[in-house]
Amino acid sequence: MLPVSALRAALLDWYDAHGRTLAWRAPPGSPPPDPYRVWLSEVMLQQTTTPHATPYFEAFTARWPTVTDLATAEDSDVMAAWAGLGYYARARNLLACARAVARDHGGVFPDTEAGLLALPGVGAYTAAAVAAIAFGRPANVVDGNVERVMVRLFAVGTPLPAAKPELKRLAATLVADDRPADWPQALMDLGATVCRPGRPLCEACPLTGWCAAFASGQPERWPLKTKKADRPHRTGVAWVLRDGQGRVALMRRPDKGLLGGMMGLPTSAWGVSPADAAPPVAADWRAAGAIEHVFTHFSLTLTVRVAEGEGDFVWTDPEAALGALPTVFRKALERGLG
Ligand code: ADE
Repeated sequence: MLPVSALRAALLDWYDAHGRTLAWRAPPGSPPPDPYRVWLSEVMLQQTTTPHATPYFEAFTARWPTVTDLATAEDSDVMAAWAGLGYYARARNLLACARAVARDHGGVFPDTEAGLLALPGVGAYTAAAVAAIAFGRPANVVDGNVERVMVRLFAVGTPLPAAKPELKRLAATLVADDRPADWPQALMDLGATVCRPGRPLCEACPLTGWCAAFASGQPERWPLKTKKADRPHRTGVAWVLRDGQGRVALMRRPDKGLLGGMMGLPTSAWGVSPADAAPPVAADWRAAGAIEHVFTHFSLTLTVRVAEGEGDFVWTDPEAALGALPTVFRKALERGLG
């Protein structure tokens, strides 16, 4: 049985001295942050690092300072502002949730984990994080950083992702009523800055006295890895069509599927040979090289072709297009613009 209170005190002391200053955090000793800001940051931070998410967080909160402001935003404005953050289903869920809070809860977030979990697009992680950080509930908040800390602390022998339920159970044994908002953030900061994915910085860790991986002398052996199946590779074509005013032809992608609801360049299906791809309009298409992009489930080589022409598209100024397109299309457009 771990001496939980001593371990917690050691980590919370470390957090007071070494916790990160982040745009969505309230400084130590001040009232808890606005639940809207906590929720927005936690959605953005799923699958995204803090340095990458921070400018998006600042832009969103400047443009839509409250959840009611976000609820009344145009879908297309929110999707464009999300461009570059990836995992675009999150942006659609974000809007659905903001609208549910505005419509069904008078613009006030529910203050319990169960109430939060009932909102559209809010899963177990986000509900626990908002309950803890915004409302001071002693919730069990487990993200990838917390999982890695648990794997090493307890030298869990099952590789991820199979170990996830066990790691959540282990994390729950360390949750207590004291400083419920700081505890998960302390674990996350430790995971991000000390108990890192590569070689951990054990010399800077306040938990080595309790850590089974450290005691083994080879802490970097955890988490155990299963051999990853190679990512499949696909090919396709992106067409950069420009009109007489230099504007670029864009299309809105269907809501369902990869990059759903986002603006994009016209492309072939991803999975066809470029030689077989039929262009969206007849024009004098010229080769402009290719770009590579890695998605979670496959990598993609997009051959880029450019032409001048006309057609039924959303004609957009290139600068505006570069700011509003998901990264894969931004790369293709940059290539096509030369
Ligand atoms: N990653 C996700 N949420 C976080 C938070 N609140 N603090 C630090 N890292 C995080």
